[in-house]
Amino acid sequence: MSAFKGRVAVVTGAASGIGKALSLELAARGCRVVVADLNLKGAREVVGELGAERAIAVRCDVSKASNVQSVVNRARRQFGSLDFMFNNAGVAIVAEARDLSLRDWNRVLDINLKGVVNGTHAAYKVMLAQGSGHIVNVASGFGLVPGPGLIAYVTTKFGVVGLSETLRAEAHDLGIKVTVVCPGFVNTPILASGADSMESGRALIQAPIITSERAATITLDGVARDRAIIAFPLYVRLAAWLYHRCPWLFFRFLLKGARDLRRSKQKSL
Ligand SMILES: NC(=O)c1ccc[n+]([C@@H]2O[C@H](COP(=O)([O-])OP(=O)(O)OC[C@H]3O[C@@H](n4cnc5c(N)ncnc54)[C@H](O)[C@@H]3O)[C@@H](O)[C@H]2O)c1
Repeated sequence: MSAFKGRVAVVTGAASGIGKALSLELAARGCRVVVADLNLKGAREVVGELGAERAIAVRCDVSKASNVQSVVNRARRQFGSLDFMFNNAGVAIVAEARDLSLRDWNRVLDINLKGVVNGTHAAYKVMLAQGSGHIVNVASGFGLVPGPGLIAYVTTKFGVVGLSETLRAEAHDLGIKVTVVCPGFVNTPILASGADSMESGRALIQAPIITSERAATITLDGVARDRAIIAFPLYVRLAAWLYHRCPWLFFRFLLKGARDLRRSKQKSL
């Protein structure tokens, strides 16, 4: 039987990109889905594709613990349980540290890291009471290796990987599963929205880009197998391997990335 048939999932950041694709694929695999997003209109459109018996749309700002708690409560009220919590909502800012304001830093920290803390905290309590459940945190390949020009993003994604791997060990004997997802580049609006200019964004995106549908399929196949870390495509795993095995060589790539980014930004000014 499918790991998802007859189950209940909350997906944050589900109005767009990977979250939307996860919601559609979860529903296709027999799951009922709470489609949660800051963008309620977008969330409603996703529910429109799924049908009201299989999904509900809820407005939620993941940086606010009370919003996330309400979404979890709503899932239980509407569908009776909470089997999967996908903490997926995220934002990116492409800028080096010298150009980031504290406001920029806090926005990325609040959504990408505190958002996952809020989602994990709310879901874990419910799952402990149930004695079962699976928390899936969407980090990034940049949760496994550094990336110049993405310093705030990388900070949060390393945090999400650390949180998830630690919780996986703590939760294991309590019946709760935890998985962290580390995708490479996926074709979603975040790639454009995060760049302070398309030029500087392009300097970072030299690797192949996969579709959000493919990312969702790989993610759910890995979740069904209870994988600790789902890192894809292959270049993400290779980069992580190189980073740990040859840090001095990896640093040369990072330095080149930082210089390319600065050069392309200067050109676009
Ligand atoms: N696209 C990629 O290349 C890529 C690669 C690795 C990891 N990721 C991660 O995947 C996740 C999803 O990103 P995506 O690529 O689908 O981007 P996206 O921009 O398509 O979707 C992000 C969604 O999050 C929502 N959102 C933003 N702030 C929110 C908040 N405060 N509360 C609730 N919802 C909020 C947006 O409205 C949007 O619907 C993010 O965590 C991102 O870091 C993306």
